Amino acid sequence: MKAAVHHIYGDESTIRFEQVLLRKLEASEVLVKVVATTVNRTDCAYLTGKPVIMHLVAGFRKPRNPITGSDFAGTVESVGEKVSKFRAGDRVVGLDADQCSSHAEYVIISEEEGIAKVPDECSYAKAAASMEGAHYAYNFIKRIPDIQGKSILVNGATGAIGSAGLQFLKYHGAKVTAVCRTAHDAIVRELGADDIIHYDREDFTEADTTFDVIFDAVGKSTFGKCRRVLTSQGLYISSEFGPKIQNPVLALFTPLRKGQQVRFPIPTDTNKSISYALERLKDGSFKPLIDREYDFEEIKEAYHYVLKGQKVGNVVLKFDH
Ligand SMILES: NC(=O)c1ccc[n+]([C@@H]2O[C@H](COP(=O)([O-])OP(=O)(O)OC[C@H]3O[C@@H](n4cnc5c(N)ncnc54)[C@H](OP(=O)(O)O)[C@@H]3O)[C@@H](O)[C@H]2O)c1
Repeated sequence: MKAAVHHIYGDESTIRFEQVLLRKLEASEVLVKVVATTVNRTDCAYLTGKPVIMHLVAGFRKPRNPITGSDFAGTVESVGEKVSKFRAGDRVVGLDADQCSSHAEYVIISEEEGIAKVPDECSYAKAAASMEGAHYAYNFIKRIPDIQGKSILVNGATGAIGSAGLQFLKYHGAKVTAVCRTAHDAIVRELGADDIIHYDREDFTEADTTFDVIFDAVGKSTFGKCRRVLTSQGLYISSEFGPKIQNPVLALFTPLRKGQQVRFPIPTDTNKSISYALERLKDGSFKPLIDREYDFEEIKEAYHYVLKGQKVGNVVLKFDH
């Protein structure tokens, strides 16, 4: 099969197309012909080996797994002899945030790990765009107790994580203030934001109000700077480690005292996030944002764009089988 492969860490210029042999399926595995996948920030971390801590998971000197790709939507081509939930021809979607090598014509995944049927009427592109950002958003917001009625600021509300998070928070009844660039005002309004702060005009950390929760979905702020706009028992959640890798440390120590808290959730249980995202898709409360679509052959262009850190929602790669 044709796959996008990288043997060294770096930017998109390290990617080559190679013919890769498909291995034999294990008894509990499913072979999926990929129709759509995304190029996302998780993939960028595996491609570049940045932040440096990525070398611990992706391979110390060079990428352990040369094929990037963490999500997919496509059709089941064949199944192992013990697979009971899927059969050839099923429309499926899936995610493995530790890389399932979906930037290739086919992907192999265990039926128990990160795969589900695509809801009727949902396109493959939309299904693929409902995976990575939604997975992190779900895992971050589930650490917020009693969301209903809370005043929550989402920084980076147009990103893959932020746009999913904003919609999930609205579903659970939060009052959401979204932070985005002025040009994206209409997008976040459409996603359900109650209030909007334009970061190119105003610094939200200098707002004259306080929030119960600050969810920094792009990791551009710090707990220190946000404290004055957090309520006295407020919660700070970031999708990034912080400029001094302080967020995991603060998440360990702030719960030992009363007052403002930091959470740095480690996403777990991909099956749960997938079923949550698909339920929201089905009930209409979640519409994944798709910024651009590229053909698989244009994967370098897609990475180049995503690496800039300015995509609006998700960037989809399509296969023409
Ligand atoms: N903790 C984890 O396990 C984990 C997993 C995946 C990703 N991440 C990290 O989470 C972050 C978000 O990922 P993502 O895929 O959602 O990102 P993304 O889609 O690339 O985010 C792009 C968005 O960020 C917004 N943005 C850029 N600079 C901003 C600023 N200074 N203030 C506010 N918004 C700004 C932009 O909004 P405008 O267009 O409106 O300017 C753009 O729409 C990334 O830093 C990524 O590395 C963490």
